[in-house]
Amino acid sequence: MTLILALPGNEALAKKLATERHCLVGDILVRQFPDGESYVRLDTPVAGQDVIIVCTLDRPDSKLLPLLYLADVVRAEGASKIGLVSPYLAYMRQDKQFHPGEAVASRSFAKLLSGYFDWLITIDPHLHRVHSLAEIYTIPAQVAHAAPLISQWIKENISNPVLIGPDRESEQWVSEVAKAAGAPWIVLEKTRHGDRDVEVSVPDIARWKNCQPVLVDDIISTARTMIETVVHLKRMALPAPVCIGVHAVFSENAYAALQAAGASRIVTCDTIAHPSNAIAIWPLLIEAMTAL
Ligand code: R5P
Repeated sequence: MTLILALPGNEALAKKLATERHCLVGDILVRQFPDGESYVRLDTPVAGQDVIIVCTLDRPDSKLLPLLYLADVVRAEGASKIGLVSPYLAYMRQDKQFHPGEAVASRSFAKLLSGYFDWLITIDPHLHRVHSLAEIYTIPAQVAHAAPLISQWIKENISNPVLIGPDRESEQWVSEVAKAAGAPWIVLEKTRHGDRDVEVSVPDIARWKNCQPVLVDDIISTARTMIETVVHLKRMALPAPVCIGVHAVFSENAYAALQAAGASRIVTCDTIAHPSNAIAIWPLLIEAMTAL
């Protein structure tokens, strides 16, 4: 038997996965003590069962401890295997020491999760200098890709698109999305000077003037990458772009700032709940669960 448990905020996805996989959702309670410490209680027996914990990991610092406490009690109560379904996997961007003494958070985070779970499923983790999760996770980690769903959305909603990736890293998913959508694509050059200081250079894109620009990136966080690109395209008199992100991290006022910069529409996958969500990723998770 398989039992699914949802950390707060992940209930709808857990229910959908349980319905599709014909299994049950168990009960847990997570709350804060008055001093801010976390209280976690497992209210469904798990002995001898395979347990899947669903928890997307944006704003990870406040989610991680309850998640680990839950995994720990599930193990102590006798579950046979514990898997983590985390549509957004955090801490993948600090993947090297940029300055002496810096913690390589992607490795430390991977070490932690690998110690508590038997397997992991996620969607489009930010793989850049680390090329595969197997380089840092010691448990089986299945990666699902949102590209086919994004291509489908573009085919159904945009006519005459040209896809634009903001930097070399984005080439991997932009090219895949473009091919499946049957659209042309280009990739820009990006230089990041700081958390909120991004510069992009746009090659000659005048020949795409009659196309609908569609920016595609994996993560939209401060949105500076997208905003810089939107502003450049405006200067070159291209139509206002549609901005598509896999993971709607949107820190602080990033969403409003991107709207104000002139995006004609902002669309994201629902790996993180956000008003811009328009592409449901649960079918990818079901596929990955079946594959595992
Ligand atoms: C970076 O390498 C990623 O692929 C995204 O381009 C980046 O995370 C976007 O960040 P922000 O929205 O803060 O510019």
